[in-house]
Amino acid sequence: MFSTWCQRIFGALLVAGLCGAPVHAGSDSPIDSETLAKNRKANEVCFACHSPAGIAKPPRADLDMSKLADSRVEPEIFNKADHGVMDCRQCHSSKHYGAEYPHGAAGKTETSPCNECHAAKQLRLEPQFNASVHAKVEGVKEKFTCNTCHNVHVNVLALRLKDPAKIVEQDNHGCLACHNSDATFARFAPASDKMPGQKKARPDIDTIHEWLPNTKAHWKAVRCVECHTPEVAAGKMLSHEILNKEKAEKKCLTCHSADSSLKTRLYRHMVKDEQQRLGFTNSVILSNSYVIGATRHPELDRIVIGFIVLTLAGVLGHGAVRFIAALRRRKNGEKQ
Ligand code: HEC
Ligand code: HEC
Ligand code: HEC
Ligand code: HEC
Ligand code: HEC
Ligand code: HEC
Ligand code: HEC
Repeated sequence: MFSTWCQRIFGALLVAGLCGAPVHAGSDSPIDSETLAKNRKANEVCFACHSPAGIAKPPRADLDMSKLADSRVEPEIFNKADHGVMDCRQCHSSKHYGAEYPHGAAGKTETSPCNECHAAKQLRLEPQFNASVHAKVEGVKEKFTCNTCHNVHVNVLALRLKDPAKIVEQDNHGCLACHNSDATFARFAPASDKMPGQKKARPDIDTIHEWLPNTKAHWKAVRCVECHTPEVAAGKMLSHEILNKEKAEKKCLTCHSADSSLKTRLYRHMVKDEQQRLGFTNSVILSNSYVIGATRHPELDRIVIGFIVLTLAGVLGHGAVRFIAALRRRKNGEKQ
């Protein structure tokens, strides 16, 4: 409550940071329509250059166009994003950024860090972030920050996106933009232990996961973090601890079963909705992932049934071998 009123009062003065954690998107709007209109108006100054329209038709002739092309922000996307209610200069210091150009030289180094406004969240997430693989490898951890995965101009809270396909696209984009791009990966990669003076080569993401049928279909339907983070209590946001590859999830039935772990992860917002509306949740899981027995996918059924048959055969086979061995031993014992 305090932070809502605090923001209402100070919003126009661009000091939301003083107000502590902002209220959640999805609750009533944190900002009144007057402040919102004022912020949108102020941002027009920036969009005159930093937008597709501005890049196509720059208001001045002396701009470094290649740099400007790299710094485009899409007004429609920004306005709908989590931070779209804000004035750009709540994060980009008004000391360096304004209608006048060139920008102040120190501007780049003075972008507000997340914890200026999300102190409580950062405090909770930081231990997980620090325990994750990216924060452990020398040469990687120094460069990894919250922005490495989060695009504050674009991202929309999962709770508001709801549609699993959109959530997957947003969250996997954060990982794939690096793990699927040699250029970006090279900027973050540690030194190679095989080739002195070179960066470690990027392992191809589809080759690493070739045990997973149709990886491309999985990247569209399920998030990297589903398999690469530990399970958290139902209803909680997922963990920021990216585990090492030995601890990653490989079991098909973790997702492809009626008791799918996706219920408490990717589908949690839909599940909650359905539970409130109907009192049960099965349709979410049935309509979004293949469940053995109830599936529409003969290939998956065959693979999964194959696994079960193999496991059973393994158990029975193992038992039979031990039984025969025991019989032999007993016979030998009797002879002596
Ligand atoms: C007249 C055109 C123009 C306007 C208006 C403008 N910018 Fe820029 N901005 C640029 C160009 C060109 C660059 C590329 C780097 C450079 O030349 O400084 C840039 C770079 C940036 C960068 C990248 C970091 C840096 O300093 O290089 C940020 C952040 C930025 N602008 C924010 C803003 C904000 C916020 C506003 C509105 C308050 C704004 N800009 C208004 C042209 C403009
Ligand atoms: C919630 C904070 C926040 C808001 C609001 C915000 N930005 Fe940014 N902006 C950032 C961060 C963080 C970066 C990345 C800086 C980095 O990587 O060092 C960034 C980077 C940029 C860059 C550099 C190029 C790029 O895309 O990485 C430009 C240009 C820019 N912002 C313009 C804007 C404009 C224009 C607005 C308003 C329409 C805006 N920003 C609103 C936080 C914000
Ligand atoms: C200057 C203040 C400021 C900074 C810096 C800032 N945010 Fe925010 N952020 C906000 C405000 C205000 C909202 C709430 C918008 C709303 O509720 O409609 C918000 C909303 C969010 C949300 C969605 C709603 C929620 O409460 O979880 C996420 C996620 C988020 N920010 C992440 C980040 C990350 C990651 C960074 C750093 C890269 C960052 N923010 C930097 C002010 C800021
Ligand atoms: C390795 C990539 C990565 C890094 C680094 C990262 N995050 Fe995240 N973050 C994610 C993903 C993926 C999600 C989506 C979780 C979900 O929807 O359940 C997320 C979700 C969030 C959310 C909640 C949004 C929601 O939908 O509920 C907040 C807040 C947040 N991150 C803040 C931070 C902060 C602060 C940092 C820096 C300490 C950070 N993140 C660093 C990947 C990352
Ligand atoms: C279905 C579960 C699953 C999904 C989804 C998944 N992974 Fe993996 N990933 C694994 C497992 C299991 C391993 C370990 C494989 C092995 O050692 O054979 C692994 C290995 C990795 C490695 C280690 C590479 C190496 O050998 O150095 C990286 C990097 C990785 N995954 C990134 C990703 C990214 C990025 C995504 C999202 C596009 C993703 N993973 C999605 C299960 C998954
Ligand atoms: C900006 C680049 C970048 C982003 C974004 C990124 N990673 Fe990584 N990741 C790396 C680098 C660099 C390594 C270290 C490679 C190494 O040491 O072999 C790594 C290592 C890994 C590993 C391998 C750990 C091991 O045991 O070898 C996994 C798994 C992984 N990342 C998953 C993810 C997931 C999931 C996301 C998104 C939530 C993500 N990464 C986002 C750059 C990135
Ligand atoms: C982290 C959760 C998860 C894990 C683990 C997982 N899957 Fe999937 N899989 C999905 C989701 C979600 C879909 C998409 C379902 C849809 O689109 O209806 C999918 C789709 C598939 C498909 C259909 C792909 C296509 O061609 O359209 C097959 C086959 C499949 N999975 C097999 C497997 C096998 C075999 C394993 C174990 C090696 C496995 N999956 C592990 C979540 C998972």
